[in-house]
Amino acid sequence: MQVRETPYERPPGYAARYRDARFATGTGPATHRREARALAALIDRAGRDLDVHAPWLDVPSGAGRLTAMLPGRAVCVDRNPDMLRACTTVPGGARLCASIHRLPFRDAVFSGALCMRLLQHIPGSTERRAILGELRRVCRGPLILSFFHAASLQHLRRVVSRLLGRKRSSRGAIRFAVLRADLQAAGYTVVAKRPLRWLISEQWLVLALPRAD
Ligand SMILES: C[S@@+](CC[C@H](N)C(=O)[O-])C[C@H]1O[C@@H](n2cnc3c(N)ncnc32)[C@H](O)[C@@H]1O
Repeated sequence: MQVRETPYERPPGYAARYRDARFATGTGPATHRREARALAALIDRAGRDLDVHAPWLDVPSGAGRLTAMLPGRAVCVDRNPDMLRACTTVPGGARLCASIHRLPFRDAVFSGALCMRLLQHIPGSTERRAILGELRRVCRGPLILSFFHAASLQHLRRVVSRLLGRKRSSRGAIRFAVLRADLQAAGYTVVAKRPLRWLISEQWLVLALPRAD
């Protein structure tokens, strides 16, 4: 089934700003530290299931902020060519411009995949499941992803702001049960999850493993 892709339009110069300023100013450094800590914990947890013979996939890689943390070699994929041009910090990393909906790779070529900071921009289960299914197709190992959890103070604040007509955001939070069902439909089982901060942060990281069936 053909799924309509959610657009992700950003103004000129956004990619360089995302790389140089987004996680270097304001609350950015603390957020980056928390995300890196959660990612390290989940990679550690996946340890016994890791296959180091094939590369990992970082999609969407953005400017490659977290690529170096992945075990072994990694391939960066992003739909925005400006982001890939800004992705200069990945040592010897392969970079490819493509949509996560149509990854130009054979089945099961990657050891694992990181899908960080994308799902909060995807409004519905149909598109989420299509994305997770494509990741499952190209990866034979763990998937680590982030999503915005609806049971969080940050999400509550967003809802209140919206009700007061203050702030409109294209990002959306979902219940964990919804994400787990989407992962299951795509052939994954959740084995661990971590918030950046319990009850406060909407950003959570999840480790899922391919189901054997
Ligand atoms: C918020 S950035 C996250 C980048 C990186 N994962 C990080 O955490 O720093 C979201 C990225 O998703 C990319 N993107 C949006 N839709 C995409 C799609 N369908 N396929 C591939 N990349 C996509 C955008 O170009 C952007 O670089």
